[in-house]
Amino acid sequence: MWNERYTVDKYIYGTEPNSFLAEHAEMLSGPVLSLAEGEGRNAVFLASLGLKVHGVDGSDVGLAKAQALARSKGVEIQTEVVDLGMYEPEANHYGSVVSISAHLPSAVREKLYPLVARCLRPGGLILLEAYSENQLARDTGGPKDSDMLMTRAKIEREFPNCEPILLRELEREVCEGTYHTGVASVVQFIGRKKA
Ligand SMILES: C[S@@+](CC[C@H](N)C(=O)[O-])C[C@H]1O[C@@H](n2cnc3c(N)ncnc32)[C@H](O)[C@@H]1O
Repeated sequence: MWNERYTVDKYIYGTEPNSFLAEHAEMLSGPVLSLAEGEGRNAVFLASLGLKVHGVDGSDVGLAKAQALARSKGVEIQTEVVDLGMYEPEANHYGSVVSISAHLPSAVREKLYPLVARCLRPGGLILLEAYSENQLARDTGGPKDSDMLMTRAKIEREFPNCEPILLRELEREVCEGTYHTGVASVVQFIGRKKA
């Protein structure tokens, strides 16, 4: 499904970074693991700040576009095709993990998120933005499956080893290409791995 979506010339989520990420990027340290990186807009932005970025995604078509975007901007990113349902990032390795619109079934999150916390160095940060369950009532993007949508309670439950620095649900204008456009309900989270 994602390869099909990405098989077009244009960048379907645009080439500008997610705005929540851009607003808080100065807090992040490398290396950065970017989950479900897609076409590379966020990884390329972080690399342009001088951070080492490892972008993972299930779509080889998306990641090929990510590498093309990196070349066009004169930066380097590392990409890897992975199934997040099976992925085991290196433990105690990353300064930060970024997860933007990486909507995954709870069965996948249950296995992945403890490994995400484990892959951070002590004091490392996870920065996540996802559509909230309240987005189901809207037609402005995101999966039509509440299991894949987030709430503050889900974040607190699924990241017990990350102290929230910021955790909020809000409505905001999203303007990110073809599929994410309009007022949307999102959950935003920045958590610090407990020592
Ligand atoms: C809505 S796009 C977001 C892309 C990117 N994070 C962005 O903000 O532009 C969701 C991405 O999740 C990836 N994805 C979904 N399920 C996945 C899985 N099980 N394993 C790996 N990637 C997955 C898709 O390939 C797609 O690139």
